[in-house]
Amino acid sequence: MCGIVGCVSEINATRVLLRGLERLEYRGYDSAGVAVIDGNGDLALRRRVGKLIHLMDAVDREPIQGNVGIGHTRWATHGGVTEPNAHPHLSYDGNIALIHNGIIENYEVLKRDLVGRGRTFHSETDTETLVHRIAEHRESCDSLYEAVRRTLAEVEGAYGIVVIDRREPDTIVCAREQSPLVVGVKEGEAYLASDVPALLDYTRDVIFLEDGDIAVLRPGEISITDHDGNAIERSITRIKWDLSQAEKGGYRHFMLKETHEQPRVLGEIMLGRIDAAAGRVNLVEGGEPVLPEDVASRVDRVVLIACGTSWHAALVGAFWFESFAGLPVQVDYASEFRYRTFHVDERTLVVPVSQSGETADTLAAVKEARRRGAPCVAIVNAVGSSMTREVDGVLYTRAGPEIGVASTKAFTTQLAGLYLLAHALGTMRGTLGGDAARARLEELAGVHDLVARALEQESAIESLAATVQSREDFLYLGRGLNYPVALEGALKLKEISYIHAEGYPAGEMKHGPIALIDDGFPVVCVATPGAVYDKVFNNLEEVRARKGRVIAVGAEGDDRIAGLADDVMWVPGAAEAVAPIVNVVPLQLLAYHVALIRGCDIDQPRNLAKSVTVE
Ligand code: F6R
Repeated sequence: MCGIVGCVSEINATRVLLRGLERLEYRGYDSAGVAVIDGNGDLALRRRVGKLIHLMDAVDREPIQGNVGIGHTRWATHGGVTEPNAHPHLSYDGNIALIHNGIIENYEVLKRDLVGRGRTFHSETDTETLVHRIAEHRESCDSLYEAVRRTLAEVEGAYGIVVIDRREPDTIVCAREQSPLVVGVKEGEAYLASDVPALLDYTRDVIFLEDGDIAVLRPGEISITDHDGNAIERSITRIKWDLSQAEKGGYRHFMLKETHEQPRVLGEIMLGRIDAAAGRVNLVEGGEPVLPEDVASRVDRVVLIACGTSWHAALVGAFWFESFAGLPVQVDYASEFRYRTFHVDERTLVVPVSQSGETADTLAAVKEARRRGAPCVAIVNAVGSSMTREVDGVLYTRAGPEIGVASTKAFTTQLAGLYLLAHALGTMRGTLGGDAARARLEELAGVHDLVARALEQESAIESLAATVQSREDFLYLGRGLNYPVALEGALKLKEISYIHAEGYPAGEMKHGPIALIDDGFPVVCVATPGAVYDKVFNNLEEVRARKGRVIAVGAEGDDRIAGLADDVMWVPGAAEAVAPIVNVVPLQLLAYHVALIRGCDIDQPRNLAKSVTVE
């Protein structure tokens, strides 16, 4: 997610904006820009690709004087990392500048209409549609606020927007829908930002805008309405966090913040991509299909390659490709795959999965697969990363920067991305359709609410963590779709708490790992309803018979698991196909709280790097 700063300030706005953007640098970005209404009443715009220092140099070379402005650090979602794609964007008449975080779902329709009326686009972004449409409305109404309000009535999607108009030189209009915005309150001035850290140098009194709010900021004056123009009162919160707490949104660690961001980012990955009524997934990136029809119909096999957590996501994805698209699927560690005599050709769909898009082994495997003629469609989080330039299509997971080394939101959005791609492949090939196609999409569409409910169990999981944190070995079990979830739970625990944890398919336990189990040995098992539930239950009986301690992930209302397990981490009941996305949440929280109690360096565990760019 990108950073936004805005100010109606008594001092030079450019300084305020650049300082605010510096405060958001820790989140990562690929380009930055500012727009300020200068002393002549003109809009001065500076944008640069790369680090903030380039933007600062540009401002040093051509300084801007003015008190009202907006600034942005971009982390690309629509369109590549280029200066024209950087924000702010200017309207066709040069009067209005706008910044937008989020995704406009119906931007293609809006853009077509605008182009039909002769508007020229200078970027590949969905954002530019907003600024031109606001400018059109502004021609027939007398305030920026009204033009924004009319435009938002036509927009579907998620947004945090901030807008300035050189004809109203003391005003900023902003609006929020599923993308955070915070207004800073100060006598004679007004500030706003996407995140609190950008405001702390100027004020600690803030108003957190809510979805549906439109706010107008003028010197010392803030008014908020809903989309119908009705005034809304929002209370002022005094921020007591220090800067490092503020960067983490008030959470103690980035990992915890990112774990709690999952409901929001899972909502975002689906925006504009699901037509639940038609039972179809719409995967388009930069106007091009991510998976062309001819590739979908030609392939007779799918190969998924990845490393670490992304490999676990791929293991889950294999189930979806098999069941939705009816194709044989192979899942491989990229580091193994590339050194085998592997077989791929133009009839093999290769799907690399990578948060960073920079993992050396995955990149090397993809290059080799493409050299052999295989079409490659990647599931990637980091826009513009090396992987995105090596493949034929990219499905971005839109999780935003992930700073904690242990992957959380990247994993669950990879799962959602794999589900979408498998669904698309299935419907294109005719192996998935009708009610089944619709039902599978409805199940996915509801998953972010279930994840939010799973997160509500955090305090119970924290108490459980206190009772197991001194153990030095854990076994994690699961079957079917939940086996990779068990692997991921074990990986989270060992990465951040340094406890030895092994993930195993529950049915394999009796072929070896059962020898580990003695009195009190902790066995964490993902045991939610599904085709193999009874089998898992039997495996847990075997653990109990040897006095192991059964810690289950169970579905709310399941008395049977409550009767068997020593402890249950409850999750809301989810359809079997999407349950892995929900079931991993308690395992992330358990690992976090165990590591916290053990005093580990959670965001930067020893020996680990966020992105493994060497072999
Ligand atoms: C674990 C973790 C790693 C990564 C792996 C692949 O929490 O984050 O296992 O999943 O290094 O990285 P990407 O997905 O960037 O290719």
